[in-house]
Amino acid sequence: MRSHEISSSQIADVVNRHHRLPDRLLQILIELQEPSGWLPPATLTALADALGVSRAHVEGVAGFYSFLHTEPVGRYRLLFSDNIIEHQLGSRELMAALCSKLWVEPHKPSEDGLVSVSTTSCIGMGDQGPALLANGRPVLRLSHQRINQIAELVRQQVPVSEWPEAFFHVDNNIHRRDAMLQLDLTPGAALQAALALGRAEWMRQMQLSNLRGRGGAGFTTAVKWMACADAPGADKVVVCNADEGEPGTFKDRVLLTTLADAVFEGMTLAAWAVGARQGLLYLRGEYRYLRPTLEAVLARRRSAGLLGRQILGKAGFDFDIEIHLGAGAYVCGEETALLESLEGKRGTPRIRPPFPVTRGYLGRPTVVNNVETLAKTCLIALEGGAAFAATGTAQSTGTKLLSISGDCARPGIYEYPFGVAIERVLEDCGASDTQAVQVGGAAGIMLASYEFHRRIAFEDVPTAGAFMVFDSSRDLFEVARNFVAFFAHESCGFCTPCRVGTSLLLKAMNKLADGHGAKTDLADIEWIDRLLKNASHCGLGSAAPNPVMDTLLKFRPAYERRLKSLDFAPAFNLDDALAAARRASGRDDAAAHFSADHAPR
Ligand SMILES: Cc1cc2nc3c(=O)[nH]c(=O)nc-3n(C[C@H](O)[C@H](O)[C@H](O)COP(=O)(O)O)c2cc1C
Ligand code: SF4
Repeated sequence: MRSHEISSSQIADVVNRHHRLPDRLLQILIELQEPSGWLPPATLTALADALGVSRAHVEGVAGFYSFLHTEPVGRYRLLFSDNIIEHQLGSRELMAALCSKLWVEPHKPSEDGLVSVSTTSCIGMGDQGPALLANGRPVLRLSHQRINQIAELVRQQVPVSEWPEAFFHVDNNIHRRDAMLQLDLTPGAALQAALALGRAEWMRQMQLSNLRGRGGAGFTTAVKWMACADAPGADKVVVCNADEGEPGTFKDRVLLTTLADAVFEGMTLAAWAVGARQGLLYLRGEYRYLRPTLEAVLARRRSAGLLGRQILGKAGFDFDIEIHLGAGAYVCGEETALLESLEGKRGTPRIRPPFPVTRGYLGRPTVVNNVETLAKTCLIALEGGAAFAATGTAQSTGTKLLSISGDCARPGIYEYPFGVAIERVLEDCGASDTQAVQVGGAAGIMLASYEFHRRIAFEDVPTAGAFMVFDSSRDLFEVARNFVAFFAHESCGFCTPCRVGTSLLLKAMNKLADGHGAKTDLADIEWIDRLLKNASHCGLGSAAPNPVMDTLLKFRPAYERRLKSLDFAPAFNLDDALAAARRASGRDDAAAHFSADHAPR
């Protein structure tokens, strides 16, 4: 192994740049790791001294994030995205081929310390995979030819910064545009419009729009903003959640690439509404490559008077935005875990109440919104709340960006008014022979073909954006098993039901996969489902059994054919199961469900 010492002057430099603030610990660790790829014990000790915190605290934070390493790793760190869609495109075979060409075992650095090859949770490139991260930079459209090239570049020790640019080219793949993706925003125009309305009228327009959060939960944005505006305390904060860790989701990546001004302007509009002076954008570590362009947009906005003091000349309207990086932890997308992470700690979800709107970042009233939610507020400022609410359905106004991947001719980004039917989306993206669609990522819902009349809307099929297509050749048991492995890997371990429940669930799925499963394992799965749903501390644990329960209900034969043959007996009546599935899908009352109120306008 080569020398990895980080000098005390390097440590002092980084710590001073972060004003010796303990809440910058995560950002400091990310920077200190940069040169050698890992954090030696002496660095952790020196850092604890410099920040005046315990070494156990520093080690606890460093140990929490999967992109931070307290043991040596290879100089080339190659992490394959572990998304099921990429598996189906051959990512595991490509990884095995790379390991064999480099003579390394997966998940272990090579003996000479040159390279390590491993996996990581979905990196947000499902439309152009298989993909991997090479020292943090996404390498896309992997093929055997590209794998051979990578192996050669590593053997020749060519720095990743000198690899062919084509490896790193990220396509936006926008196939359908509506109001959001057609927006050609003159920076400051939306802000000017909201300032002209005055604070109270701007909030009223937000109420009229009935905009609901695009991060998954669908909470009404104006209600959140009003609660924060009314909370006592002058030092309010606006946080943009750009963690986008749900497998199969990549629409925030495209918004940050193509409409960064609208995202930052949305944060500024939120600041104007609630009276915030500080803004933070939490950018997932996988999207770190976007940071330089985002910083350039921020700098441009500062020089144009759209950030900083007296924004657009308005006395007392001071607001600026800083970017914080995540480091590979899906749970940090949960808003309270995200706040902990922004405060430099482990991403453990907080107990609520209090809610972030009253006690958020550093105990201050904080609005947390998704990237797409914030960008959408520009449309409301420019066209008014009523115009925004005129698209979509009564309960789900406006449009939704979908990230489509899997078995279809044209994967990528599609924007639709809320209320669009699944079958319409499948037709547009060129899917045929579709067996099932997983909407909303691993935590979402698996729809069978008899449900394709259903609609994307909070009142029917809600989604943060992922839309994964599986044709009839796919094994849906393996899809569910991949999602369960994802949750078991990403469980933060804070509460026992989730820590133990997700790994028991994975064990049961692995047992079935190995052909050792019995009917009692299916009963166990149902028991674990109840445990996770009822006793988990946050949404990760309660959503973890969703993919298994959905596939068990709708695609039970995929499980039953794996049972030990002696154990197999027709344990269920297909007609009863189908009827139950139809009831669960709401198909029986479909007519009522899609009354004129809900239909797309
Ligand atoms: C495990 C978990 C992961 C989440 N990941 C994200 C995420 O990556 N991005 C996001 O905007 N919201 C995510 N959320 C939802 C957030 O907690 C929160 O509801 C959202 O950021 C609020 O913004 P919105 O009201 O604009 O949707 C996640 C929730 C859970 C439980
Ligand atoms: S449910 Fe899982 S992810 Fe959430 S706090 Fe508990 S252990 Fe952590």
